[in-house]
Amino acid sequence: MNILVVGVGYVGTTTALLLAELGWKVTGFDTDKSKVSALARGTLPFYEPGLDQLLHAQLQKGNIRFISDPLQAIQHSQVIFICVGTPSQDDGSADLQYIRNAVTMIGSHMQEYKLLVMKSTVPVGTQKLVTKWIAEAQKSLLPFDVVSNPEFLREGNAVYDAFHPDRIVIGTNSSAAAQQVRMLYRDIDSPYLVTTPATAELIKYAANAFLATKISYMNELARLCDQIHVSITDVAAGIGYDARIGKSFLQAGIGYGGSCFPKDVNSLLHIATHHGSNLGLLQQVVHVNETQHQYFLEQIKEHLGSIDKKVIAVLGLAFKPGTDDLREAKSLKLISQLLKEGALIRVHDPVARLPDSSRQADVQQVKSVKDAIAGADAVIICTEWPEYAAEAWQHFVQEMRHAAVFDGRNLLDGTQMRAWGYHYYGIGNG
Ligand code: UDX
Repeated sequence: MNILVVGVGYVGTTTALLLAELGWKVTGFDTDKSKVSALARGTLPFYEPGLDQLLHAQLQKGNIRFISDPLQAIQHSQVIFICVGTPSQDDGSADLQYIRNAVTMIGSHMQEYKLLVMKSTVPVGTQKLVTKWIAEAQKSLLPFDVVSNPEFLREGNAVYDAFHPDRIVIGTNSSAAAQQVRMLYRDIDSPYLVTTPATAELIKYAANAFLATKISYMNELARLCDQIHVSITDVAAGIGYDARIGKSFLQAGIGYGGSCFPKDVNSLLHIATHHGSNLGLLQQVVHVNETQHQYFLEQIKEHLGSIDKKVIAVLGLAFKPGTDDLREAKSLKLISQLLKEGALIRVHDPVARLPDSSRQADVQQVKSVKDAIAGADAVIICTEWPEYAAEAWQHFVQEMRHAAVFDGRNLLDGTQMRAWGYHYYGIGNG
């Protein structure tokens, strides 16, 4: 069977390669010609561990190709996955223009039955809208199905998550379409859940909003922990043993970022408001997340006093380890605030590069942690890259002008750092 994947960003490329590995003939399409030609040459336009090996293998086997003219592919593909972006608009709602462009193009070029599988994260009710847009674009009345099949891939773990999903959600009112989607994932061992399209759309938002809630809950509790001299890390361990709570997503820090959580939580809030519902708890989740890096900065200033002309080493740019993605990265928010207050910044990240918009005379990206730290007045850890924990911190203490470490991800062992002579602060471990 031929499958077309529309939109070869991080979700589309991972999905296309998963489907190729499962034995289907896959075509990846994107309007971004440079992305298409990079992928066709075997180069990933983003960093995702393990995905480049899959890309090389599938290109070599001839199971996958990338194109920027989809018309032929639409005609020759029985199934079309929609994986285009749905960025946030100013009011928090998801911008559906890329979805609309993609499905209008499909509607106007289809000549026989098509099964559309929606992977993009979209507001509740989008499956209905897409059905209407396709029907409007068709030149003659042809049958089609639109199935909601949300993705739950984590950046940095996308390959593992694609092959070992916790569940596969199939949102459709057609049992034939549900069966067909299930058959596409034939060798994937996973629970399958068939729901209505709207339920599937909400499941995606509800999952991300719930995880964001866990994080903000721990972050708010961390502020209390600082006041009462209790370790949030120990509290997380203590509650995590309760199977009803679970151990994951209890790590306090400077807040969640990335391309999903901030966007999806805002989109869910927008959907609720639109339907006259008030998700007050989720509003507080956003508020904690948006103020957490400021809280962290206050702790830094409490110790350093003025930041003007202080040399600050910022370790980690990416919104989390294992990716070069800077979308909604807390590091950029902190850097911009530190610059406003007159700091001189040296940044390090193993993979991510400082964006052009953040480049200025007072920020310098260096190649090693040692270069960042030499002569600095403080180190700030923004991303918990495991290599930072393995650095020779016992020796760095001599190299700093003022040995202070502010750990925004509770990565390092505070007791050990203090024993080596650092002023050490970890969020909720003050
Ligand atoms: C998330 C969802 O996990 C995934 O299922 C969905 O499809 C896309 O969004 P991702 O954004 O790649 O994936 O990263 P994730 O690992 O979920 O982390 C999101 C953010 O939360 C990161 O900024 C991370 O640093 C932060 N986080 C995570 C915490 O602050 N504490 C935690 O305990 C866990």
